[in-house]
Formats: sequence, structure tokens, C-alpha cells
Amino acid sequence: MPKITYISAGGTERTVDVPVGTSVMRGAVFNDIEGIVAQCGGNAQCATCHVYVDDTAVGTLDPRQPGEDRLLDYTVCPRRPTSRLSCQLKVTEAMDGLIVHTPERQD
Ligand code: FES
Repeated sequence: MPKITYISAGGTERTVDVPVGTSVMRGAVFNDIEGIVAQCGGNAQCATCHVYVDDTAVGTLDPRQPGEDRLLDYTVCPRRPTSRLSCQLKVTEAMDGLIVHTPERQD
């Protein structure tokens, strides 16, 4: 099962197993990771699952779809080139070792 590491804005780091076929957001919620709110439950409507993908993963993930790209303009913390909605990051075996950073605030 892929391991994903979540690093909070305060530096707290947790690595958890996340099943293939779920999402990076679900991995956080199921493991009580701080910094992911996910108000809409993964329906790409709230932007409270915003994460910054670690630089080491740039170019390894599927590109943003237009809906995700638009919603990233409404995150509470500033959008960066590495910003993603974690509910739209479907977990694959290839994502083993992925590191994401959670922003200071989601709402
Ligand atoms: Fe709402 Fe991702 S959980 S946009």
C-alpha cells in the first residue's frame, strides 16, 4: 500500500498507508491528519482540501483538470505552482513516497 507523508505548516510530519483507488484527501481524513478539512467530502466544491505537493513530486502526478484548476483560485492560503486539491489526487502505487504539505489554514 502506498505511503504518503503529510507535513503540516507547523512542521508536524506523519506518514500513513493510503489504499490505492482512494484519494490523498481520504488518506488524511481517515488518519486524522491535521490541516485537511474537506468540507464537501471530495466533490471538488470547497477547496478546503488544498495541499502543496512537495517539489520532489512535481511532474509525476496527473495534471489538474479544469474544475480543480478553477477552484484553486479560491483557497484560503495562497495558491502556488504546486497547489492541488487533495480530493482530486487519486492514489496509485506509483504515488508511494509522495509528500504533501498542508497550508496554515483551510477556512
Ligand atoms: Fe472539497 Fe476537495 S474536499 S474540494
